[in-house]
Amino acid sequence: MRYIVNPKMKGAYIHPEVYGNFSEHLGRCIYDGIYVGEHSDIPNVNGMRTDIVEALKNMKLPVLRWPGGCFADEYHWKDGIGPKENRKKMINTHWGGVVEDNSFGTHEFFELCRQIGCEPYVNGNVGSGTVQEMQEWVEYMNSPAISPMANLRRENGQDEPWGLKYFAVGNENWGCGGHMTAAHYADEYRRYATYVRNYTDKRVYKIACGPGQHPYWDWTETLMREAGSLMNGLSLHYYTVPGEDWKHKGSATDFTEDEYYKTLGKAHFIERLIRESGAIMDIYDPDKKVGLIVDEWGTWFDVEPGTNPGFLYQQSTMRDALVAGISLNIFNKAADRVHMANIAQLINVLQAVILTDGDKMILTPTYHVFEMFKTHQGAHLVDSALSAPTFDRDDIVPAAAKRGPEAAYKTPYVMESASVAEDGTITVTIANLSATEAQPVEMRLDGVEAKLIEARVLTGDIHDKNEFDNPDAVKPVCFKKDVKVDAACNGTEVTYTLPACSVAVLRFEA
Ligand code: AHR
Repeated sequence: MRYIVNPKMKGAYIHPEVYGNFSEHLGRCIYDGIYVGEHSDIPNVNGMRTDIVEALKNMKLPVLRWPGGCFADEYHWKDGIGPKENRKKMINTHWGGVVEDNSFGTHEFFELCRQIGCEPYVNGNVGSGTVQEMQEWVEYMNSPAISPMANLRRENGQDEPWGLKYFAVGNENWGCGGHMTAAHYADEYRRYATYVRNYTDKRVYKIACGPGQHPYWDWTETLMREAGSLMNGLSLHYYTVPGEDWKHKGSATDFTEDEYYKTLGKAHFIERLIRESGAIMDIYDPDKKVGLIVDEWGTWFDVEPGTNPGFLYQQSTMRDALVAGISLNIFNKAADRVHMANIAQLINVLQAVILTDGDKMILTPTYHVFEMFKTHQGAHLVDSALSAPTFDRDDIVPAAAKRGPEAAYKTPYVMESASVAEDGTITVTIANLSATEAQPVEMRLDGVEAKLIEARVLTGDIHDKNEFDNPDAVKPVCFKKDVKVDAACNGTEVTYTLPACSVAVLRFEA
């Protein structure tokens, strides 16, 4: 297969935030995941698990969304501040009916982000909250003044404002966030967002709720028309669910080759969602100032047998790694419009990057893909193209995105993206979706004399996974010796063979 990369044809900036994660008060994501409390035997700093923080730093996690999801529209932030013994206990009605003791709240979230070194992204409550409650939360987080909420923050031990940048005004308000119509939410957004004030020069980046299961095009059009000028970002939620419906989503580990391809085809469908959402946004925002914020994406399978159905705990295989490789390459290619993306979710929930069991922890195949792609963060997309054969399916277009009868949807067997960093380093990431066929690649880096500095590949059988008693079954391996590089002054020819079911990264100094 011929693959051409033009490092000199620089495109859009790849916002580091495209490599973000999402953490909700759901199942074992926060409690029993990242947050074990100060008195735990598991090594921690201020209650945050040290091994997890280190792994997330190594992955270069740029941004973390919190506290939901559906939980966000039931969350009342004042329940989660002040002395822990006085914090309100409540039932997490949405996720598993367990007691939420609010021991992880605003201060703990900022402490977590400080330790990881990532940007915090907070999701506000529109569904069951008030304008005043939202306004006060932002004042609490961002005001340096002598004012009621800033003073309350000081009483609780934080003198300086945190300077939150990313704030979402509601979540899935067409569903769990209030079952609103697009027009009604657009009005609510305008009202709530008005009172999300800027307290310093660091302006709050306001994110409006975008579509998910509500018809995509209608919601996007209404929001952009009615409120586009008052937002910095519009969210988009898309889950890869291979089963026939939400009651039969399919097993995370026990699947056929046909289900494997269906899953990858469905993951690839996000490319069309981004393209068509972008086309609608272009009408109202031709300069592409409003970011498309894909703040929930990833696989959603049946929970692992024997686990709480409300906890959404699923294992992760090479199939998930391919979904991550497909999605991240698509986000890179859409860098001019996609300014952030957050996989759901960080730990122990859905397509997690980390799973825990007591003091044990495993990095999932998805984690490794994020780690391998990290040098795309803050680089510029470059022109690149290959022409791969496709597999065509007629069973992947979700009802919410259908406009009428659909032709079979075509997914290429090989998908890629390439970028150039400020220091001239070139990163190429490429995924071979075929379950069985290796793929020889003849790649040309046009116009540059390049030296290979890294070549790693993550590969295995489509079912391969990491387990607590075998945590390194799937991990990237060096394949530099299998890459032949022939540099000349007008370009560099690179040849290698991508194994079946693989995701690879190649990096060059030019
Ligand atoms: O990520 C799980 C849930 O999926 C989120 O809470 C919600 O926003 C979405 O429906």
